[in-house]
Amino acid sequence: MKIMIITSSPNKDGLTAACSEAAKQGVEAAGGEVLMVRLNDLEISKCQACDNGWGICRSEHKCKIKDDFQELHQFVDEADGYVMVTPVYWGEMSEAGKTFTDRLRRCEASNRNGRNKTQDKPFIAIAAAGGTGNGTLTCLSYMDRLFGHMRSERFDLIGITRKNRDYKLDAIRAAAKKMVIGVEA
Ligand SMILES: Cc1cc2nc3c(=O)[nH]c(=O)nc-3n(C[C@H](O)[C@H](O)[C@H](O)COP(=O)(O)O)c2cc1C
Repeated sequence: MKIMIITSSPNKDGLTAACSEAAKQGVEAAGGEVLMVRLNDLEISKCQACDNGWGICRSEHKCKIKDDFQELHQFVDEADGYVMVTPVYWGEMSEAGKTFTDRLRRCEASNRNGRNKTQDKPFIAIAAAGGTGNGTLTCLSYMDRLFGHMRSERFDLIGITRKNRDYKLDAIRAAAKKMVIGVEA
């Protein structure tokens, strides 16, 4: 059982990283395998909105831009579920998270004929905010809509801040573990 944990923070030891580590522990405690991806380490350029707005993402469910997206798209296919962790920037996902998922959504949301790579797979969305937690809800709502477009199955939406960090990390660990157990059942 493979769970892809995707993070989109430039900070290697911040709150996002702590969340991804907790999720990893949860997946592994349930006997699952982790595919860890740090988007900020990769070269992923922005969607070109080819032609009049749609390119081969619509017809072939692939992206024509040759960069690190291609390998990640393969990982998305291999994974049985997803944990996506983003820092909250302006009440939204970070730029790295948006750039990757903009391209992924085009390929998967438009794939209605065959099995799409994300369909019916569970996801946990985690929004890691600053002290105020402002914008956590809009960020989670954005992520929920994104995975909904790709027809993934919501497992949990978790907001975390510096103030509630300790017990929310426990919740992330428990959610990731339960998601793997649930997927296997
Ligand atoms: C450009 C930018 C915008 C931010 N916007 C928000 C925000 O809307 N709400 C919030 O609570 N924190 C906001 N923050 C703070 C980050 O969400 C917070 O520090 C987060 O924990 C960073 O994750 P990291 O520790 O993985 O870097 C922002 C930070 C940056 C750099």
